[in-house]
Amino acid sequence: MSTAISPTAYNYKVVRQFAIMTVVWGILGMGLGVFIASQLVWPELNFGLPWTTFGRLRPLHTNLVIFAFGGCALFATSYYVVQRTCQTRLISDSLAAFTFWGWQAVIVSAIVTLPLGYTTTKEYAELEWPIAILLAIVWVTYAVVFFGTIVKRKTKHIYVGNWFYGAFILVTAMLHIVNHASLPVNLFKSYSAYAGATDAMIQWWYGHNAVGFFLTTGFLGMMYYFVPKQAERPIYSYRLSIVHFWALITLYIWAGPHHLHYTALPDWAQSLGMAMSIILLAPSWGGMINGMMTLSGAWHKLRTDPILRFLVVSLAFYGMSTFEGPMMAIKTVNSLSHYTDWTIGHVHAGALGWVAMISIGAIYHMIPRLFGRVQMHSVALINTHFWLATIGTVLYIASMWVNGITQGLMWRAINDDGTLTYSFVEALQASHPGYIVRALGGAFFAAGMLFMAYNVWRTVRASDPAEAEAAAKIAVVGAH
Ligand code: HEM
Ligand code: HEM
Repeated sequence: MSTAISPTAYNYKVVRQFAIMTVVWGILGMGLGVFIASQLVWPELNFGLPWTTFGRLRPLHTNLVIFAFGGCALFATSYYVVQRTCQTRLISDSLAAFTFWGWQAVIVSAIVTLPLGYTTTKEYAELEWPIAILLAIVWVTYAVVFFGTIVKRKTKHIYVGNWFYGAFILVTAMLHIVNHASLPVNLFKSYSAYAGATDAMIQWWYGHNAVGFFLTTGFLGMMYYFVPKQAERPIYSYRLSIVHFWALITLYIWAGPHHLHYTALPDWAQSLGMAMSIILLAPSWGGMINGMMTLSGAWHKLRTDPILRFLVVSLAFYGMSTFEGPMMAIKTVNSLSHYTDWTIGHVHAGALGWVAMISIGAIYHMIPRLFGRVQMHSVALINTHFWLATIGTVLYIASMWVNGITQGLMWRAINDDGTLTYSFVEALQASHPGYIVRALGGAFFAAGMLFMAYNVWRTVRASDPAEAEAAAKIAVVGAH
């Protein structure tokens, strides 16, 4: 059988590339997470070298897990979903290939520059201006490929998953370009175009919406395709999906100031951010409930299908972290949680429990289909992965809750004469056991990724190029 590309085939090549790199970057980013978590237990692991200190490796961890692992998962799934739900091939193979290679170039540049200490110092926007420009070009190309494909769709309506992916792509472009406005002084250093409290406000408008649109809206797009597909059930409520979509995108954009409570930011802006964050619970739970209820009549499948388990547990963690977030946005709660490990626990409830779990589920769903196989090499290994990931996440977030609340209470404890009851070092000593448990939880999670890599490798190795090509044929009629 010929393996030449049929004009009626989906472009699965770019999806395969991004899917494989999701696993590779996942292992690297999470492995680095375990390493920096271990540095907080055994500081000797900083090795006394500037390049290997916690301060330089931490931003590399966040860039690798968010943009490399999360980003590749979003590229892979959005290209897969947009083609299948629009029943058409991506508008341009070469532009799609450019987004793949351009994105990998951005990641490799991060791996080189961040340990060397080149950074804008803005969290989640650390990459210096030449890399930021490359990122912007790749992103705009991504928008062209995605929206161009929507325009030439063969279906009448635009499936709701694409609405979420579309919003994520547009808003991420806007955030990145506005927040990165800066004045370069040489090839490796630039200064923000904004100053003082304005700079802080722009930065956390970016930072929070990076959470809202990169780590949430994009992954909701994923949820709207892969949960119904894997459960073989229609979405619970199409109407709810539209209502919570518009509510989510109109509210998220206002919530950034909750990162700047009790700072030089005007008080009214802080209170506005707090109010919007509390209201945000409703559309967030709208999505969670819609996903969960899609399983009505299919709950029994959870007993035998570990991929579905990944997807459903991710929704549970999404619900949990979007309950916790609005609570932490309340000023009085934030006065306890801010600066403590509670924030780190909240981050990873979202990052491991929601973002990573849903991505892992989606990749397991796609890999056999992309490589012309009926299912993954080993379902038992997916199950092992599921338990390692779940136990790892629980250990991570539970230890950070204990640490966070301990730290918050110890820092604010005051003696009758107004002096502090505990020194900082005492609070640090009290946190040590929690750091050990967190490193262990992280190691569990990262170990699961190694099982995934082996399983993916075995599935890909067994693939037959002709079968893979046949799998990419566009089904003219039928469900997407
Ligand atoms: C094996 C898994 C992981 C481990 C062990 C791990 C560990 C860590 C550690 C030790 C920190 C620094 C905490 C501190 O400064 O006190 C951190 C920060 C962070 N990690 Fe992870 N991580 C893992 C996975 C992930 C994933 C998958 C994501 C995102 C998808 C993620 C996103 C972040 C973010 C956003 C921060 C910065 C949090 C903040 O500044 O508040 N991590 N991680
Ligand atoms: C309704 C939804 C949410 C709200 C209102 C919310 C609110 C908050 C609040 C109040 C903080 C602490 C800010 C501080 O004290 O500095 C925070 C931190 C954070 N949240 Fe959320 N959160 C939500 C959902 C999520 C989700 C789903 C994720 C991840 C997927 C996430 C990721 C983060 C990150 C990365 C930070 C740390 C930012 C930093 O300081 O570096 N959040 N969030």
